[in-house]
Amino acid sequence: MKTPLRTLVLPSTVHRVINIAIFASGTASNAQKIIEHFDKSPSVRVALIVSNKKNAGVLDIAREYGTPTQIIDRQMFYETEDLLDILIKQNVEFIVLAGFLWLMPTYLVQAFPKKIVNIHPALLPKFGGKGMYGKHVHEAVKSAGETETGITIHFVNEHYDEGDIVFQARCPVLPDDTPDDIARRVLQLEHQHFPTIIAQLLTA
Ligand code: GRF
Repeated sequence: MKTPLRTLVLPSTVHRVINIAIFASGTASNAQKIIEHFDKSPSVRVALIVSNKKNAGVLDIAREYGTPTQIIDRQMFYETEDLLDILIKQNVEFIVLAGFLWLMPTYLVQAFPKKIVNIHPALLPKFGGKGMYGKHVHEAVKSAGETETGITIHFVNEHYDEGDIVFQARCPVLPDDTPDDIARRVLQLEHQHFPTIIAQLLTA
C-alpha cells in the first residue's frame, strides 16, 4: 500500500504580520499610544524604534515593551544607507514619524513609497514647513488669529510637510487660549486618531 501524500493544512485565518518602525525623538507620547495600540495585535508589530537622541523618552518605552531600538546620527542617516539595511533586516514595511524632525533622505522615501506617514500638529498646508514644529506651530496659529486648528496625518516625501494628506481632524481655538492650551487640545486629537489611522492604512 502506498503511503498517503502528506499535505500541509493551514488554518483558515493565517495572519500576515506587518512590521512597522516608529521614528521618534521628542516626548514620544504618540509613539507610546501607537505601541500600546498594537501591543496585542495579531497583525501589526512595532518591530523597531528609531531615535536620534540617545536619551529620548521613547527608548524607555521601547525597553518596557521589549521593542528593538536604533540610535542614529546625521552621518549615518544622510551619508550611509545603513538604516535601510537595518529596516530591511527587521522586515519593516511601514514607517511612522511621531515627533521626528529630520528631513527624510531620498533613499528612504524611495524605498518606502507611500509607506511613511507623519503627524503634524496643525491643518496643513497652513503652518507647515521647515521650522514649523512644536510650540512654534501653536504660537503661529495664535498670532494668526485662527479660530480653529487641528492635526494632519500625511505621507512623507523629501520636503517638509508636503506629502499627500491622509487625514485631518479639527478643534477650536478659543479667544483666551494660550499656545500651551492649543498644544494640549491638539495633542489629545493626535492621541485619539493617530493609532487608528495607521491601523486603517495598514489594512487598506
Ligand atoms: C506632535 O505634536 C506631532 O504632531 C509632531 O511632534 C509632536 C510629537 O509629540 N510631529 P510626542 O513626542 O509624540 O509627544
